[in-house]
Amino acid sequence: MLAPMQLFVSAASPFVRKILVQTHECGIDERIERIDLSSSGLGPTSPVAALDERNPLGKIPALILDDGRALYDSRVIAEYLDTQHEGPLLLPPSGEARFETLRRIALADGVCDAAVLGRYESVLRPESLRWDEFLEGQLRKIRAAVATLATETLPERADLGTIAVAVALAYLDLRWGDHDLWRGTHPGLVRWHAAFSERPSMKATEPRL
Ligand code: BEZ
Repeated sequence: MLAPMQLFVSAASPFVRKILVQTHECGIDERIERIDLSSSGLGPTSPVAALDERNPLGKIPALILDDGRALYDSRVIAEYLDTQHEGPLLLPPSGEARFETLRRIALADGVCDAAVLGRYESVLRPESLRWDEFLEGQLRKIRAAVATLATETLPERADLGTIAVAVALAYLDLRWGDHDLWRGTHPGLVRWHAAFSERPSMKATEPRL
């Protein structure tokens, strides 16, 4: 029996959404109480004390276990939660498949990192201090990573790799939809994403901003 846990969340965060999709897929969603920081003002220059007390990096998601220990970041939380359910593992336990999945997670998380940094640069940073080359650099990383994903045969099944990719592409739609960073150039990825997005776990976790 899985002990109750708490998860610091925020509605737009793709790193949080990955964990929520996973907990839906594994049927453990209801065991996790959410502490929603969406309207807390949390940001790179606006810490939230309740989160900082548990994660000194002040980042979401952070998972609080029933003994009070905190786990972060999303990759560590995802691996932990994969030990806490009875269904098929979402991260292969060993071998080639494990490292292929971990690589894919790193690539998708890198897309999210660049997309969030780009957003800070273009939305949060005072206009007079904006650095266009930095933003272009982040968008270049996104385009290159998406082009790599487009060369891969992504499985239809939900595992930690496909969840990370689906959530990263959805985050590009959410925050960078006007830049066409993937839809116009990679029709195969569009088809894969459309099918994956039909999963109840993806529908249940669509960001409500
Ligand atoms: C966003 O608003 O895009 C965002 C919020 C929290 C974490 C990452 C992204």
